[in-house]
Amino acid sequence: MTRLTRRPRRGPSFVGKPPRATADSAPPSEYDAFAAVYDFEYDELVEDIPFYRDLATEAGGPVLELGAGTGRVLIPVAAAGVEIVGLDASPAMLAVAREKVAGLPPDVQARISLVEGDMRSFDLGEARFGLVYIPFRAFLHMLTVEDQLSALAAIWRSLRPGGRLALAFFDPRLDLIAARTTARATTPFIERVTPLLDGARVVQWAAPRYDPLRQILDAEFIYDRLDADGRLVERVHRHLMLRWIYRYEAEHLFARAGFTTEALYGGFDGRPFESEGDEQVWVLRRPESRA
Ligand SMILES: C[S@@+](CC[C@H](N)C(=O)[O-])C[C@H]1O[C@@H](n2cnc3c(N)ncnc32)[C@H](O)[C@@H]1O
Repeated sequence: MTRLTRRPRRGPSFVGKPPRATADSAPPSEYDAFAAVYDFEYDELVEDIPFYRDLATEAGGPVLELGAGTGRVLIPVAAAGVEIVGLDASPAMLAVAREKVAGLPPDVQARISLVEGDMRSFDLGEARFGLVYIPFRAFLHMLTVEDQLSALAAIWRSLRPGGRLALAFFDPRLDLIAARTTARATTPFIERVTPLLDGARVVQWAAPRYDPLRQILDAEFIYDRLDADGRLVERVHRHLMLRWIYRYEAEHLFARAGFTTEALYGGFDGRPFESEGDEQVWVLRRPESRA
C-alpha cells in the first residue's frame, strides 16, 4: 500500500477535538479517537480511488461503501456521477466526512447519503445495490469468523443478484509477523516524520504486535507534534486491531458466504496476485441465483 511522502505541510491538521459520540449512538469505535488525524495521515493515499470509481461507474448506482470513514474514496465516486451510500460505525469519522461533503457542489452532495451503522448488521434495503465495496482494510475489523460471516450475509442481502462486492486488504507478511509476535519485545519505532512548514514536525511512532494464533494485529500508534525546538506540543494515541486473512482462507470464506470470485488482483492496477505481501484486491459477485 502507498507510503506517504515527507513533504512540507501547512500543519498541524490534527489539532482540534473530534466530536464525541452522543449517549444514544453506537459505542465509540476505536476510530473516534483517530478521526482528527486520519486525513493528515492518508491524504496522499489515492491509488485505489480509480479502481473503485470505475467499478461504481460500471454498476451505475446506487452503490454502497462500507467503512466509508472521512469520505476519502466516497467523495470522488460521487463526484464521478454515482449515487452512493456510505456506512460507518464511527460518529467522529462520519462527522469529518459530513463537513467535507457540505463543501461540495450541490449536485454532488445530493448523490451522497452517510449512515452510522455496523457492517455486521446493517439493513439498507434488500437487493438495492449494484456494487458494495470496502476499501483499505476495513473488512479486517471483522475480528472473528462470526463477524466476517455476518458482514458478508448483510452485504449479500443488500446486493442485487449479479451485483459485485469489491474489497481489499493487505496480504500478511510472515517475516513481519515472526519479527513482532506478542511473545517478543514490542518496542515502539519511528514510522514516519512529517515536516511542517513552520519548522515543527510530526513524529509518528508505531508498536504493532502480531498474534499468529488468533491472526490478530494489535497496534498502538503515537503521533507527537513537536515545535521547531523539538518540544512536545501535542500527543495523540491510536489503538487498532485487525484480523489478517490469508489468500486461500479468503477464497473459502467468500465461497461459504455464497459469493463467486471474479478476480483476485495483487494491486489496484489489475496486476495478478503473485507474491506474499501484495495487496489482496478481490472482486466477487452475488450470483444471479443461488446454486
Ligand atoms: C481504514 S478506515 C477506511 C476509511 C475509508 N473507507 C478509506 O478508505 O479511507 C476503516 C473504517 O472502517 C470503519 N469501521 C470499523 N469497523 C466497522 C464496522 N463494524 N462497521 C462499519 N464501519 C466500521 C471505521 O470506523 C473506519 O472509518
